[in-house]
Amino acid sequence: MGLHDMTDRLEKIGALDRVAAPLAAAAKKAIGPGRRKDLLSGVGLGHPLHPVLTDVPIGAFTGATLLDLAGRGAWEPAVQTLLGAGLLAALPTAAAGLADWSDTYGGEQRVGVVHAAGNVAALALFGASLAARRAGAQGLGRTLGFAGMGVLGGSAYLGGYLTFARGVGVNNAFNEAKPTEWTPVLDEAQLTEGKPVRAEAGGTAILLFRTGGRIFAIGNRCTHAGGPLDEGEVDPDALCVTCPWHGSVFRLEDGEVVHGPASVPEAAYDVRSESGRIEVRARH
Ligand code: FES
Repeated sequence: MGLHDMTDRLEKIGALDRVAAPLAAAAKKAIGPGRRKDLLSGVGLGHPLHPVLTDVPIGAFTGATLLDLAGRGAWEPAVQTLLGAGLLAALPTAAAGLADWSDTYGGEQRVGVVHAAGNVAALALFGASLAARRAGAQGLGRTLGFAGMGVLGGSAYLGGYLTFARGVGVNNAFNEAKPTEWTPVLDEAQLTEGKPVRAEAGGTAILLFRTGGRIFAIGNRCTHAGGPLDEGEVDPDALCVTCPWHGSVFRLEDGEVVHGPASVPEAAYDVRSESGRIEVRARH
């Protein structure tokens, strides 16, 4: 059985829900909506923050392991510096991962909790490795470090699975075609003032909203996890729509993310009315 199949089976272990569901709920409550969530989700960055941060601890621990393997104790001070840096960098990395994971469900949440447990185990091993080295037990420190690297490798695989096999953190609207020519989408009479409406342009779902004589159009599929924005709430004063699934807020004027967990803006469309038909054209 390959790694993918094993992880696929892991997704189906319902018993993990007993741990994963309350932990995810607690993480969601602790992080909450607002600035902390936005920061940890990568709002303003244009993609999630977690994968950016993972490079630092993984790089530091990998460097320490390579120096241990190649130097056999000759580069002990450098190894200890790298272990310390990796442990420090793991804190914000874990916080960002926790923020992403708190919005997952089912199989993704189960794999995520094993990924998190693996990372905690790896950090404990690297921490113990550093403590052993500082106490003068270099041999034990190296063994613990190698064990940490092994656990970290398995855990990193699960993180990659969540992103590349399950699409967690991936722009869910990436495949939506954006019509660059004026495309009729709806009769003007069908667009009621103050009511979000879903329309289609060349197979792409568009959110239309009319207020104060203006019509706004942005992508309707939430970039976070594909939620239907036309079913969300629109604030006509702030000109923003809130996704009904996890509460991301997008600006109607240009599709920009106002609040996460989404980090990728919605496509924005120019709108015009021709002979009673609303037409849209992708702005970018
Ligand atoms: S699908 Fe998660 S916020 Fe929209």
